[in-house]
Amino acid sequence: MKNLLYLLSVTLLISCGNEPKKEKFSYERVKEEPVAQVSSEALILNSNDQMLFDKSLLKANAGEEITLVLNHTGKIAKEFMGHNFVLLKNDTDVDDFAQRAMLAKDNQYIPEGDETIAYTSMIGGGESDKITFTVDEPGTYVYLCTFPGHYQIMRGEFIVE
Ligand code: CU
Repeated sequence: MKNLLYLLSVTLLISCGNEPKKEKFSYERVKEEPVAQVSSEALILNSNDQMLFDKSLLKANAGEEITLVLNHTGKIAKEFMGHNFVLLKNDTDVDDFAQRAMLAKDNQYIPEGDETIAYTSMIGGGESDKITFTVDEPGTYVYLCTFPGHYQIMRGEFIVE
């Protein structure tokens, strides 16, 4: 606490000599920058009652924090028209994974194992979920919705450069 007060008084001293308002602004901006950066780069993926994602291609940079927002723009409850976003590791057998996912209702349709890089919760109409993750290896990955019967239509390529 003493250190903080010391820092504040030093900042004030500096501020007094040279446009105090500007000094204060840049201090706050530095603090908030990580949040602003994340939101400006967030990937938005929409899903709907027609069992569709609005994108079949997503791109991101290797080694950087990725923020993904999944929206369900429909009205049907998740028990009947649930959607999630599941990003698979590259050596995953997509069909086999999706078959096992159908049986994993108790775990939001995410099967046991180590095949996913990231996934959202299962959401219904009007809901959203936001996740952050990092992919280190460049490549073309598969994402899908694991709600039973959805993955053959609800899937796409996630390109990491
Ligand atoms: Cu779905």
